[in-house]
Amino acid sequence: MEKSRPTSKPKAVLFDAYGTLFDVYSVGLLAEQLFPGHGNALGQIWRDKQIEYTRLVTTSNHGAHYQPFWELTRAGLRYACKKLKLDLSPEHEAKLMNQYRHLSAFPENREVLQALKAKGIATGILSNGDPEMLGIAVRSAGLEDLLDHVISVDPIRKYKTTPEAYALGEQATGLKASQIAFVSCNSWDALAATWYGYQTLWVNRYDLPFEELGTQPSRTGHSLRDVLGFFPDAG
Ligand code: LAC
Repeated sequence: MEKSRPTSKPKAVLFDAYGTLFDVYSVGLLAEQLFPGHGNALGQIWRDKQIEYTRLVTTSNHGAHYQPFWELTRAGLRYACKKLKLDLSPEHEAKLMNQYRHLSAFPENREVLQALKAKGIATGILSNGDPEMLGIAVRSAGLEDLLDHVISVDPIRKYKTTPEAYALGEQATGLKASQIAFVSCNSWDALAATWYGYQTLWVNRYDLPFEELGTQPSRTGHSLRDVLGFFPDAG
């Protein structure tokens, strides 16, 4: 059953990483350059397969087949190319994976993180990405001074949407989920975080429908700026 909607102002904000803080668009552009006419399809199948693999290894055989997100990302790329009958040379694979490592941040990130810090709100990432990937992404985007926590699921070897993954956000901040805002562009992630008990913002950048499972996120917006809606100046 859905937990009752919390209304108190969050004390921390945790962001999903890929597609939420970091823009994966550049990967699609490179995919289009390497495989003209197939960039969009490749990007979509790659992402879907990467996420499917996180669920497969988390739910099968008590986690015996866990692999870090970097490896699942590579496996997803190989699958997507095979499905589209594209010849993925080692050089192309290296280029695409390297692009995935050095993603740019969405342009509004810095001002939003600065605004949160100015309000005394703790900030962080809660991601399926492994620590090395996240560390490089945070440094490439120049966000290291603006994030108090960079939380990877890798130590527990289980991916979102398992509750143990969302619990890492509570453990790192010392707060209850109801005191934390969780922000994701992925509707499944925003939904599962809502089920877990977080206050949530779904950033609907691409004008998509939300999941049809009967629960809505606490808030819906179109850019990370909408997270500031949790913190009206008065009150
Ligand atoms: C993450 C993926 C799901 O960063 O975007 O956790």
